[in-house]
Amino acid sequence: MRNIIIYGSHYGTTKQYAEELSRRTNIEAISFENVKKINDYNHIIYFGGLYAGGVLGMSKTIKKLNNISSKKIIIVTVGLSDPTDEVNKNNIRNNIKSQIPKEIFEKAKIFHLRGGIDYSKLSFINKNMMKLLYHAVKNLPEEKQSAEDRAMIETYNKKVNFVDFSGLDKIIKEI
Ligand SMILES: Cc1cc2nc3c(=O)[nH]c(=O)nc-3n(C[C@H](O)[C@H](O)[C@H](O)COP(=O)(O)O)c2cc1C
Repeated sequence: MRNIIIYGSHYGTTKQYAEELSRRTNIEAISFENVKKINDYNHIIYFGGLYAGGVLGMSKTIKKLNNISSKKIIIVTVGLSDPTDEVNKNNIRNNIKSQIPKEIFEKAKIFHLRGGIDYSKLSFINKNMMKLLYHAVKNLPEEKQSAEDRAMIETYNKKVNFVDFSGLDKIIKEI
């Protein structure tokens, strides 16, 4: 039985989770950009940072899978918004559903973790994107703000870190 942890991470929080899971399970962790022969693995645990609803690198990686009948697939998202908010969780899942084939979505076990952000480290493009989004939502009445809007307003221009490795316990149980 061959297992692999694959991650898509721009700023490192998703990579931290993937590497900690690797340390705890002895399963190799590798960036999606370096994955070769994904079909050789039976268990695939994919960690992806959330970027404008997308899971970084996920669809590109999953596209390479041929036959999933004997495979176990776990998808873990890492974002700023609160994954205990049911509406947010449903939005993330619906986004995943639109990004991968139906049979893989139905088979995959999906988990959500919280990452972090450091505005001083963001690229020019990402900083501008956040600025536009922030100005679009900051004056919305509270009842109209989504969990994503709230997370962005609360953390705008700051350095925050919600990384909590205890969130890996449920994933280890699933593995
Ligand atoms: C341009 C941009 C878009 C983002 N979009 C989302 C989002 O849609 N939902 C969310 O929960 N977090 C979003 N985030 C926050 C990231 O998911 C969070 O910072 C995560 O920890 C990033 O993972 P990484 O450090 O592995 O790259 C966004 C961050 C940036 C910079």
